[in-house]
Amino acid sequence: MELCALGERPPLGTIPKTMHAFAVRQNRFGEPSNAWKREVLPTPSFGDDEVLIYVMATGINYNNVWAALGRPLDVIAERQKSRGEKEDFHAGGSDCAGIVWAVGRDVRNVKPGDEVVVHSGWWEPGDPWLRSGRDPMLAESTRIWGYQTNYGSYCQFARAQGHQCIPKPQRLTWEQAAAFLLCASTAYRMLMGWAPNVVEKGDVVLVWGAAGGLGSMALQIVRQMGGRPVAVVSSEAKRQFCLDHGAVGVVNRNDFSHWGKMPDTNSLAYNDWVKGTRAFGKAIWDAVGERVSPRIVFEHPGETTLPTSCFACATGGMVVICAGTTGYNVTLDLRYHWMRQKRLQGSHLSNDEQAAAVTKLVADGRVDPCLSQTFSFDEIGHAHQLMLENRHPYGNMAALVNATASGQGARA
Ligand SMILES: NC(=O)c1ccc[n+]([C@@H]2O[C@H](COP(=O)([O-])OP(=O)(O)OC[C@H]3O[C@@H](n4cnc5c(N)ncnc54)[C@H](OP(=O)(O)O)[C@@H]3O)[C@@H](O)[C@H]2O)c1
Repeated sequence: MELCALGERPPLGTIPKTMHAFAVRQNRFGEPSNAWKREVLPTPSFGDDEVLIYVMATGINYNNVWAALGRPLDVIAERQKSRGEKEDFHAGGSDCAGIVWAVGRDVRNVKPGDEVVVHSGWWEPGDPWLRSGRDPMLAESTRIWGYQTNYGSYCQFARAQGHQCIPKPQRLTWEQAAAFLLCASTAYRMLMGWAPNVVEKGDVVLVWGAAGGLGSMALQIVRQMGGRPVAVVSSEAKRQFCLDHGAVGVVNRNDFSHWGKMPDTNSLAYNDWVKGTRAFGKAIWDAVGERVSPRIVFEHPGETTLPTSCFACATGGMVVICAGTTGYNVTLDLRYHWMRQKRLQGSHLSNDEQAAAVTKLVADGRVDPCLSQTFSFDEIGHAHQLMLENRHPYGNMAALVNATASGQGARA
């Protein structure tokens, strides 16, 4: 079989030579709406530890906004250089719900026909770090599937490693199942992966971008663990969404103006900056209803917010960060950092166990995937553009791939 139409389901295990996919090429790097284009590409071969998945729906994630822009990493050049791959395109997508179509000879945990979601932790099976039984997310070979690897979930047939597959929560439609896992697993590791700074009963947790993909997952996970999330948003329209998803209170960042790099500590501007951070800290206390500062600050905006996050964090608390959406050149007042013995922790995606744990919370109905919008396959570029412009309404977004309509795939 040469090619099948989207939604046309060949017999299980039959693999067309080519497939429909959304891809970026280096000569299109730039605005996501132009960079992402529909193409017909060769269906990938797969290795002994890998599976091919007939993708029903895909999540839309910010990493493929970065892939479209070609910064901070040219993912195509990086793969060609570091792994000797020949492909001159990036067929991305890091969140997938679909049907296992074919499996490599070493794959034991899934079989053709299984309905799965795919988490995006990818690592070399022979990596010595893995063989020593340590956290694979800290291995040198670790990559983000569908961002740093090719043939992700914007393909009719995606290639993944067997261990990435988790049974699809049955109660969810394909698009709901595709929408949550990258953000939810990242949030879970940030909040539960860095002992002793994990969410405990009563803990106040400050959540930046609380109505976004990561933030909406974080609010709910904190609540499930007995914590008290305080949401930060930029518009009053997002307030009710945050309260409905577990926030004990909401702070509007547009009520403050001290954002950006911390001024020189000897300058007059520093005094104004401290006033701004103190007022922000008080707004957190007001949201909580008592003078308790966050034991965990859930960070991702980076440059513009991190100085304030580090200041607002409680003594002995942790600022945990997984991105620098507004920039990477961060400043903080070290005096408060060491005197109050705070922790600044980087975090990236999740391992198999963390992805499975958060999928169970979703499968049990304790965390909602927060699917805000479902796009058609041909709208994949447009969906990334909305994300870049911070114009998506809330939570997570998805696009249909082989699913022929929204609402399919859920079972009682
Ligand atoms: N390392 C990892 O494993 C990992 C995993 C997932 C995501 N990420 C990264 O995390 C970032 C967020 O991802 P996401 O999926 O949550 O994106 P998202 O859905 O677009 O949400 C991001 C939120 O950030 C807030 N924001 C935007 N500009 C801001 C600013 N100047 N100051 C403070 N907040 C601002 C916005 O909320 P308001 O405007 O309402 O404040 C927005 O809702 C991206 O850079 C993504 O690549 C990293």
